[in-house]
Amino acid sequence: MTVIPTMLTCKRKPATDTFYHDVIKGLSAPQKYLDPKYFYDAAGDALFQQIMQCHEYYLTGCEMEILRTQSAQIATALQNYAGEFDLVELGAGDATKSVHLLRQLLDNGVDYTYFPIDISGNVIQNLETSLPEKLPGLRLHGLHGEYFHMLQQANRYTSRKKVLLFMGANIGNFSVTAASNFCQQLRQYLQPGDLLLTGFDLKKHPQVILNAYNDSTGITRAFNFNLLHRINRELQADFDTTKFDHFPTYDPGTGACKSYLVSLEDQVVHIGDDFAVNFAENEALYMEISQKYSLEETDQLAAFAGFKPVARFFDRKHWFADCLWKCI
Ligand code: AVI
Repeated sequence: MTVIPTMLTCKRKPATDTFYHDVIKGLSAPQKYLDPKYFYDAAGDALFQQIMQCHEYYLTGCEMEILRTQSAQIATALQNYAGEFDLVELGAGDATKSVHLLRQLLDNGVDYTYFPIDISGNVIQNLETSLPEKLPGLRLHGLHGEYFHMLQQANRYTSRKKVLLFMGANIGNFSVTAASNFCQQLRQYLQPGDLLLTGFDLKKHPQVILNAYNDSTGITRAFNFNLLHRINRELQADFDTTKFDHFPTYDPGTGACKSYLVSLEDQVVHIGDDFAVNFAENEALYMEISQKYSLEETDQLAAFAGFKPVARFFDRKHWFADCLWKCI
């Protein structure tokens, strides 16, 4: 593939607009990229809900099966390894999976407070309304904001041991290096003896993985294009989505599943009045990584970041693992 060198012009825009600056930064890089955190506007949230219902997107069903069928074993492991603790969840969402564990802990008579952390204030508000109805007696303290900042807050509210949940294979949206740094950083907010339960999507037949990011109904495609629509709407850009193809890839060697949008022709895209970027025909815009792991790789990640793996919980097919690590 020949990539024609990119020419761009960049003048000025108010420094306050983080979205704008992140987009410009990504489109100015030698390998153009967009930050996947911007997938999740209202339309992106709705599309992601649909992805999770797609039969090809097995991840949600696998982890749900683990929580639905093994919450008793997970709760016992948490009690054995941590004794008394509070539960903190990163990116709690609607807590549809963790609700099984929360209920099990209540049934076991464990005295704990649940601190769901989410970047969205709406999510936290909804949890504060819905969870006490579903789980009478639950002590809940919602925290909305950026993960590390909110972990700091949680540490102010409780001095008990912490069990941290990071589910949904969200760790996969970091490269292996970024995931190592993230786990190392997480470790700095925890104490020896605290626990971390992380959801990993495991390496499996490459076609199964590729299909999960290339569903036959085109929802994942729409999810990727939605970010271009968002940029058009919010940053007065003129991406023509008919001039791009959705192109997911999976490398079974590295476990990296990467999504790209490929330019179908030489074209210029404008972002507002002040920025223009050239796309060469066949040039790829990098959208997202969804990293897949072997069990050995999850153990290596734990060791690198200062944790000791103590238990693993699998779905029936062994496609997904919730790994329990203890801080050392
Ligand atoms: C949120 N995250 C774990 C999803 C994943 O599998 O990487 C995001 C996603 N992107 C496309 N499909 C799902």
